[in-house]
Amino acid sequence: MADTTGSAAEEAVGAKGVGMAGRDTPLIRQCWYVAAFADEVTRTPMRRTILERDIVLYRKEDGVAVALQNRCAHRSYPLHSGKLSGDRIVCGYHGFEYGPDGRCAHVPALGFAPPAIRVQAYPLVEDGPFVWIWMGDPDRPDETALVRQAWCAAPGWTHVKGYMHMQANYLGLHENLMDLSHFPFLHGAALGRADHAAAKPKVRVEGDVVHTSVMHRDVAVSPAFQAATGMTAPVDRESVQSVPSPAIHLGASITTDASDPPQRHVRHIVHVPTPESQTSTHYFWAIARHTAIDDPAIDAESKALGEKAFAEDKVALEAIEDVIARDRRSDFREKIIATDHGAIQVLRAFARMAAREHDDASRAP
Ligand code: FES
Ligand SMILES: [Fe+2]
Repeated sequence: MADTTGSAAEEAVGAKGVGMAGRDTPLIRQCWYVAAFADEVTRTPMRRTILERDIVLYRKEDGVAVALQNRCAHRSYPLHSGKLSGDRIVCGYHGFEYGPDGRCAHVPALGFAPPAIRVQAYPLVEDGPFVWIWMGDPDRPDETALVRQAWCAAPGWTHVKGYMHMQANYLGLHENLMDLSHFPFLHGAALGRADHAAAKPKVRVEGDVVHTSVMHRDVAVSPAFQAATGMTAPVDRESVQSVPSPAIHLGASITTDASDPPQRHVRHIVHVPTPESQTSTHYFWAIARHTAIDDPAIDAESKALGEKAFAEDKVALEAIEDVIARDRRSDFREKIIATDHGAIQVLRAFARMAAREHDDASRAP
C-alpha cells in the first residue's frame, strides 16, 4: 500500500519567498508610527531613533508636541543635548536656535537667521497614550491613514501600557503576534493549551489589511480575570487580530461565558512596533478593558501579564536575530505551515506597500 502521509505533509508546507517582506525590504516610510508615549514627551528634549532617523521630541509651552531632526544643520551636534528657550530648541554647541517648524530662528554669531538653515520637522498627532509621527513626505502627512483607537477617547475604558526595546527586526514581531500557536510553548500553560496551538485561524484580507480570528472553547480563566469580569469558567474566547499598517497590530480577546444570557467581555491588546532600524524595534503596547476600571490590583495584574508574555517574545525574537546574524547563508528559506497563513498575508501586504513606495519614488521628478 502506498504511504501518502509524506506527500500530504509536504503539500502543507511552503517556504518564504518572492512577494513577502523580509529584512532586505526597505522600511515603509509613508506611514504613521508611534514615536513615544504621550507622557514621555516633556519640556526636557528626548532622543529617539525611528526608521534610522535620529529625532528629538519635546513640548512647546502650550503643551503641543514637536519632533525635529536631532542633528544641528551647522555641525551635526545632537539637538537633544541642548536646551529649550520658549518654543525653540537651542543647540548646545554654537547656540543656533530652531523653531517647532524646523526653521533656524537665530544664529548668535551672525545676529540673524539665514533662511537656508533649517532642520526637518516631522508631523505629529497625539491620540490617547500615543504620539504618532509621520515618517513620509513631511509636506503630505495623510491623517486618514492614522489608525486611531476608539477606546482611547471612550468613557468607561481604562488601559495599562508598556515599552520594550528589542534588538530584532520589526517583521518578526508582526509574525509572532499573528501566530497564536507559539503560546503554550513559549509562554506556558497560562496563555494557551497545546491543543489550541493546532487551531488554524480564519484569515481575511481586505486590500492591504489582514484580519484573523480563532475561537477557543472551554478555556480556564485566572482568578484575576474572574475578579475583573465576574466571569467563571468555562468560557469561550475568540482572539481577533488586525494589521492595518506596519506600525500597529490590533488584537482583541473576546470572552463569553456560559451564563444565561451570556456575559461578553472585550479586552483590546494593542501592539505597536516602531522600527528603529532593520535589526531593532521600539515595542510599545497597551491593554485596554471596560470592567473594574478603577481597580489598581487589576491594573497591576494586567500589566504584569503583558510584561511577562511580551518579554518572553522579546527573548525569542532577539535570539532569532542573533541566529540570523551568525548564519548569513543566502539560500536559507524559512518554511511555512498552515498556522503561518495570517503572518504570510501580512508580509505580502508590507511587500506591496514597500513596492508602491519604491514605484512612487522612481516616478518623482
Ligand atoms: S553644531 Fe549646532 S550650532 Fe554649531
Ligand atoms: Fe507571544
